[in-house]
Amino acid sequence: MKLVIGNLKMNLISRTERDNYFSGLENSLASKTFKEVQFVICPPVIHLEAFVKKTTTLNFLAGAQNIHQEASGRFTGEISAPMVKNFGGEYVIIGHSERRMNFNESDELINKKIKIALKNNLIPVVCIGETETERASGELRNAILTQLVEGLKDVPRAKISQIVIVYEPVWAIGSGRVPTNDEIMEVRILMQKTLHDEFKLSLEKMPQIIYGGSVNFKNVKEICVESGMNGVLVGGESLHPKDFIKIGEVLENN
Ligand code: PGA
Repeated sequence: MKLVIGNLKMNLISRTERDNYFSGLENSLASKTFKEVQFVICPPVIHLEAFVKKTTTLNFLAGAQNIHQEASGRFTGEISAPMVKNFGGEYVIIGHSERRMNFNESDELINKKIKIALKNNLIPVVCIGETETERASGELRNAILTQLVEGLKDVPRAKISQIVIVYEPVWAIGSGRVPTNDEIMEVRILMQKTLHDEFKLSLEKMPQIIYGGSVNFKNVKEICVESGMNGVLVGGESLHPKDFIKIGEVLENN
């Protein structure tokens, strides 16, 4: 089963926009069945309940884009893992580079968020990737390994299998630039080797590893299928239901 996860970011600013989005999904999904693909949509959390209501008829799962590292309490403005779960969310994106950079999220904080997500039976979608500078200075490997090892520190082995890991190069987000499928495959192998060496995971117990950054229906075959990834995380194109669903169709048929 391949995952096609949509990160709607801070978009759909009104009920009208949301309803138009639903109509777009309904039209694009009409009479289509997916056996090999699971769609997941992560809207802004204000829309979560509305999306959850649509999950059964439209056959996708819903999630959040972020959670706080505590379950409840005096944290004005924050949303917790049990809230997302209790309102029907199944997934949560953790450690997106926009949060690492704009909200100073460290690997240590991301580690706490992963743990509370798992504790509340949410599937963490953990984003890991190098910046342009790290790539240019030959630091790609170090950057990825640090985020992976620190992010998963002390997470029980059986739980790591439930996580979705995203290789998402920061420079590829919203830029239209993507790594080659060989480069993506190399990172996947590097991640799997690290999960084996550091966390003693066998090949059968590996978490799903997907790719994110400038994915569209034209490049998804090369990016995802040819590099052996388990799916994709989609930003910009997930705002266009027709193109978003087409990404799933390519994966369903390849
Ligand atoms: P993009 O965003 O598909 O627009 O590059 C991906 C993401 O930020 O997760």
